[in-house]
Amino acid sequence: MGSAPRHVLEVDDLDPGELLQVLDLSELSAPPPVLAGRGVVLLFEKPSARTRASMEMATVQLGGYPVTLRNEEVGIDTRETAEDLARLFSGYGAVIGARVFEHHKVERLAAAASVPVVNLLSDDAHPVQTLADLLTIRQAHGRLAGLTVTYVGDANNVARSLGIGCGLLGLRFRVSSPPGYGFGAVDLDRLEVAGARPEVVEDPAAAVAGADVVYTDAWYSMGQEGEQRERREAFARWRVDGALMARAADGAVFLHCLPAHRGDEATDGVLDGTASRIWPQAHNRMHTARGLLQFLLDGEG
Ligand code: CP
Ligand code: NVA
Repeated sequence: MGSAPRHVLEVDDLDPGELLQVLDLSELSAPPPVLAGRGVVLLFEKPSARTRASMEMATVQLGGYPVTLRNEEVGIDTRETAEDLARLFSGYGAVIGARVFEHHKVERLAAAASVPVVNLLSDDAHPVQTLADLLTIRQAHGRLAGLTVTYVGDANNVARSLGIGCGLLGLRFRVSSPPGYGFGAVDLDRLEVAGARPEVVEDPAAAVAGADVVYTDAWYSMGQEGEQRERREAFARWRVDGALMARAADGAVFLHCLPAHRGDEATDGVLDGTASRIWPQAHNRMHTARGLLQFLLDGEG
């Protein structure tokens, strides 16, 4: 690896051609062992099931060794600085992945690392989720450009990365959130910088009308558990149920990054219904993690 490693902290750290290349690599049935004999270091400040397991599995599938550490062990900025941890783990792993609260922590890890740093979710972004979302949409509809994706619910990290991914690959992106829970000016600016122009439609029924993909996420994210009660009240009209799904286009699919709070943001009928692609989507986390690692390591010599 040269002096300027390639980091993926948000989806638009990949250009549209590279994003499509990662999706194609994710579908390879016999990926080359680009990690043979090497490690991938995974740091987690927040809990994870899919991200940890998919990154570990992808690492093994490419011939490497995953080393996963919870923040109780590493203490980013409490036991030692993010920069010192980046320098340390650059010597152990071919790639560093990190799930953090404040986004600036992955930026600081990346600034000090001499290997690629991948954002495994921050309060602002969830790019590795978007890779799986886009692959699942492509597999469901056979194409990406020109489709309409409607995100219903909290305009959070998952929504922002999804909006950027849609913008990069020519999908229309609509977002419907309760007052006070939509994208703020900073998020809208960030989306615009990435070339994404979300259509903000407050009424969920109008937002879902004719959509090819209906997407939702938890009403309260990790770290917001104390806001459960007021959020449940504010979001009640934004629950994805059968009636809302019925407004989508024929052949529309339902996606959710998971974990789901069943009965809050989506009903069991939708999560387990015929339009749901949540399990292929979750399984695509592993395939796209492998595609991304291969993209970052291919040709590095
Ligand atoms: N979707 C997702 O990132 O799930 P985990 O929090 O379980 O990793
Ligand atoms: N928005 C959620 C996504 C979990 C995968 C969170 O940040 O907790």
